Amino acid sequence: MSRKIRILAAVAAVATLALASACSSTRSSSGNDDDQGPALVGIAMPTRSLERWNNDGAHLEGLLKKAGYETTLQFADNKVDQQITQLQNMINQKAKVLVVASIDGTALGPVLKTAGEQKIKVIAYDRLINSTPNVDYYATFDNYKVGQLQGQFIVDQLGLAQGKGPFNLEPFAGSSDDNNAKFFFSGAWDVLKPYVTSGKLVIPSGKRLESNDDWTTISIEQWSSQKAQSEMDNRLNSFYSGDKKVDVILSPNDSLALGIEQSLDSRGYQVGKDWPLVTGQDADQANTKNMLAGKQAMTVWKDTRTLGDQVAKMVEAIIEGQTVETNDTKTYDNGVKIVPSYLLPPVVVTKDTVKEKLVDSGFFKAEDLGL
Ligand code: BGC
Repeated sequence: MSRKIRILAAVAAVATLALASACSSTRSSSGNDDDQGPALVGIAMPTRSLERWNNDGAHLEGLLKKAGYETTLQFADNKVDQQITQLQNMINQKAKVLVVASIDGTALGPVLKTAGEQKIKVIAYDRLINSTPNVDYYATFDNYKVGQLQGQFIVDQLGLAQGKGPFNLEPFAGSSDDNNAKFFFSGAWDVLKPYVTSGKLVIPSGKRLESNDDWTTISIEQWSSQKAQSEMDNRLNSFYSGDKKVDVILSPNDSLALGIEQSLDSRGYQVGKDWPLVTGQDADQANTKNMLAGKQAMTVWKDTRTLGDQVAKMVEAIIEGQTVETNDTKTYDNGVKIVPSYLLPPVVVTKDTVKEKLVDSGFFKAEDLGL
């Protein structure tokens, strides 16, 4: 069986497998087509602390192993130095391709220069790697669109286009070292800002950003739930006294939303009474349960299995010397070059569509969600 057919078969087979946690190097039993042993592919993920990266890593590794490649999958505990050491080790082990979900999008230049000198190809996974010529491809979801979907959801749910309001809004943004966070914020703010300007969205905390470029002033570093919770606690304690209530929170992802929802809980907000509209992204299990419980209005679901499928195809094309499929050659300028990208579509999920989108697709089992 050719590798091409194997990778397609692997995409189908792995989709049905339970995700196993794996971090070791394994030689595929399905053999290889050349005399030098299977090509090694290094997979560098940022952290095990977020559900999605565990799923991303396990899925991609499963696909590549089934396709006959050797893999090393590493998680870096959100520590940049640790990720750099892991990449250096992969280079020393003569990996053919590095797939990197970076922690700090600007910190990998020197180590990737070494990779480039050894003709190792680099795929930026989900997050763009900036300020280096040594990134060959980028595969992600349409990050600007993620923010647009969150912003538009708020507009539609509150009836802003129909003139309803004013509503109290609190905006949050993601980690300032993550290139994606800027796109998420811009997508949302381009939709929401006209209503802030017209006074239909009021921001009691004063986090009323005049320009999208100011997004780092409301960043939550490392996408930390705890930090988001303390920030929400501070805003509620300082700016919401008496009967004043927050109506809507723009949260860029689920880890922030979780902390924000805990803060709302501790301040006595109640579902069905005064619980505000909270946005999110990723369809993490805890947040999906919170959606079912009415604590989170939506999440932007990025089926990370499809990202893994696309990246596995990219890896195969690189190793086999074939053309790598991309669908965007304009958007992702890393400061040195425009990185050819493959963008996948994100999807809005609400309480009403959890079953159809997340369970029927096999992303969750019904029992994972208590359904
Ligand atoms: C990803 C999000 C994720 C966030 C925190 C971003 O780069 O695109 O899906 O929620 O990192 O890990």
